[in-house]
Amino acid sequence: MSAYDGATLGERMGSHFGGSTEHLYGVLVRDLAADWERRGVVRDILAGREDASPGDMVQLRLLAGIHRIVLRGDAPELATFYPSVGGTADRYAVWPTLASVLREHVAELRAALDVAPQTNEVGRSVALLAGLSEAVRRRGIRQVRLLEPGASAGLNLLVDRFRFEGDGWSAGPRDAPLVLTGCAAPGFAPEHFEVVERRGCDLEPFDAATAQGEAHLRSFIWPHMPERDGRLVAALATLREHPVVIDRAPAAEWVRDQLASTAPDGVLTVVWHSITRQYWPTAEYVAMLSAIDDARSRMPLVRVALEDPHPLPAAGTWRPQIEVDDDVIGHCTHHGPPLDLSLAT
Ligand SMILES: C[S@@+](CC[C@H](N)C(=O)[O-])C[C@H]1O[C@@H](n2cnc3c(N)ncnc32)[C@H](O)[C@@H]1O
Repeated sequence: MSAYDGATLGERMGSHFGGSTEHLYGVLVRDLAADWERRGVVRDILAGREDASPGDMVQLRLLAGIHRIVLRGDAPELATFYPSVGGTADRYAVWPTLASVLREHVAELRAALDVAPQTNEVGRSVALLAGLSEAVRRRGIRQVRLLEPGASAGLNLLVDRFRFEGDGWSAGPRDAPLVLTGCAAPGFAPEHFEVVERRGCDLEPFDAATAQGEAHLRSFIWPHMPERDGRLVAALATLREHPVVIDRAPAAEWVRDQLASTAPDGVLTVVWHSITRQYWPTAEYVAMLSAIDDARSRMPLVRVALEDPHPLPAAGTWRPQIEVDDDVIGHCTHHGPPLDLSLAT
């Protein structure tokens, strides 16, 4: 049984943040749910979605649609409540302003419900840095071909262009637009590596270098987390300078295709994936592992991942784990720093 079993769409929406109103979205879901209950404009926008499965996260799709309107400057009064665009107005007073934006954009917001939440969290690149370092240390090869299934816009493929600052260590260019601070992991000594080739795939790739692509990505960041938004904007600046190719393809089939061609001699192939495995059919993950295992005799190859433990522990707290082939070498958060490499030998 999940807490959502038997709950209506309105109840799921209202309880998305556990009833907390300590940030803007907590207040918004409370107010949106109340309007749904009284059959206001929110009912019109969500009409036909009443039976959506909890995993569809209809409420997050609606919030992202509203955020997109704010980010593009079409709701200046509502923007005064959104920390992501510098708003500081009292969130508890948001409803009348929000209600008029909802009424003005019913068709657009209904269309926004078709768009599945898609984050590309650049903080996760700190896990890739740790995994790549370990892969290079194990294989003694510093030139890397980086392949990423489930890459979203592919921002983490730019790991070598980001700066990382931890406890007693740093890595990456000093003039990088994106600097990830607070990476912790005292004692970590990142290995030097050079990415000589990079490519990704996604079921729903998009060009984040366009204004539309940028708004798409930014809209899924919760507006009370402006530091994440700032990191994303810095990574997008890097992407515009150094575009990456993201193919439209399912993970396993794409990894097998990519591994059909070997990298040049002296290049280590690294297959990296983060917070995507949970969305794949089980058979897809098994097929990807099998494609990797088949290729190991033909090339130096390491799998690096940041994923939730699978299966999730039945009780207690857990963090995403950093995997290098079959080993868990450490942990970090879903948004990246700080790294915890206390498991590493
Ligand atoms: C939560 S996002 C994570 C994106 C990126 N890896 C990151 O950590 O920032 C999950 C991504 O996996 C993609 N995805 C889901 N199922 C997939 C599949 N079977 N094959 C390829 N990509 C998939 C989604 O489209 C989405 O972009």
